[in-house]
Amino acid sequence: MVPLCIPEIRGNEWKYIKECLDTNWVSSVGSYVDKFERDFSDFVKAKFAVVTVNGTSALHLALKVLGIGHGDEVIVPSMTFIAPVNAVKYVGAEPVFVDICRDTFVMDADKIEELITSKTKAILPVHIYGNAVDMDKVMEIAGKYNLYVIEDATESLGTLYRDRYTGTIGHMGCFSFNGNKLITTGAGGMLVTNDEKIGEKAKFLSTQAKITLENKGFFHPEIGYNYRMPNILAAMGCAQLENIEEYIQIKRDNAKIYNELLKDVKGITLPVEKEDVQHVHWLYSVLIEDEFPISRDELIKRMFDEQIETRPFFTPVHTMPNYVECRHNGLETTVEVSLKGINLPSSVSLKIEDIERICSTIKSITKSE
Ligand SMILES: Cc1ncc(COP(=O)(O)O)c(C=O)c1O
Repeated sequence: MVPLCIPEIRGNEWKYIKECLDTNWVSSVGSYVDKFERDFSDFVKAKFAVVTVNGTSALHLALKVLGIGHGDEVIVPSMTFIAPVNAVKYVGAEPVFVDICRDTFVMDADKIEELITSKTKAILPVHIYGNAVDMDKVMEIAGKYNLYVIEDATESLGTLYRDRYTGTIGHMGCFSFNGNKLITTGAGGMLVTNDEKIGEKAKFLSTQAKITLENKGFFHPEIGYNYRMPNILAAMGCAQLENIEEYIQIKRDNAKIYNELLKDVKGITLPVEKEDVQHVHWLYSVLIEDEFPISRDELIKRMFDEQIETRPFFTPVHTMPNYVECRHNGLETTVEVSLKGINLPSSVSLKIEDIERICSTIKSITKSE
């Protein structure tokens, strides 16, 4: 089976984790926790990074730090993994859904403004599958209405928008190191910001809002969370980060090969890389249009029979029972793209022969129908 997207472990992971085990520094205090934060903020060029137990906790923390809560609204896409929308609910705020662009599959910045009310407190762009939201437009709207911007860059680590890494353009950015992400710690997340106050508050809340007293006792002036990543996982993160440039290049090269092999297949719309974006292609994603001889779901089944794992695009969040009542301004493109989109295998370890076999399997289906 060619898997959809599996981790790549080829560097110092064993060495660094063994060091944690040998020295007993396995929990959430340890040199790798600090090093991972430092190395990550250096890589994405953000001033502060706070490492967390997963990407969802980073999103929750970001909303909490910015004081978003009951009675507030946050503008999010419905075409996303559900975590950022759930995080909005965790703090008691209401998600408001904005439609997406048909070519990039991400939030349509031109449709944000019409959703803004006096309750709107933040915009939460999600850079899905590695493409980037038009952040200049988002920041312009946020400035005009005095809103916060929290980027969910969990799927776009390594993507550049006008020479800046996604996740570092808004007030805060969140990342995940779940097993299928560009780099992984098994489970893990990171929150970045260029604002010192926000960074310090995030770190404080992530460590149970704990102040250590002179006698070494603890004092907690606020309700905090146990969201700190253990040293043992941060050690893995440091090792993974050492190879990130190479992983990004491989993903981009593989996308070029896919594009070349699929460009003449009738009924397939290829991913778009806008002029000001350097797309990491975390998951190589295409649309199966009506002219394609079989449906998207039939294609998934036929690929599976050929030992190739693929995945349909996200089921829109506004169709989930807890979110059907949420406000939006029309989600036609979200619905259409969710029904036509498919992710093809995208692991860093994917070989050129694998891509050739995947593409020839797709082509042979079009010929046999
Ligand atoms: C867009 C998006 N946001 C948030 C998350 C949540 O990250 P985690 O699984 O690390 O909590 C994920 C995926 O895992 C994701 O794809």
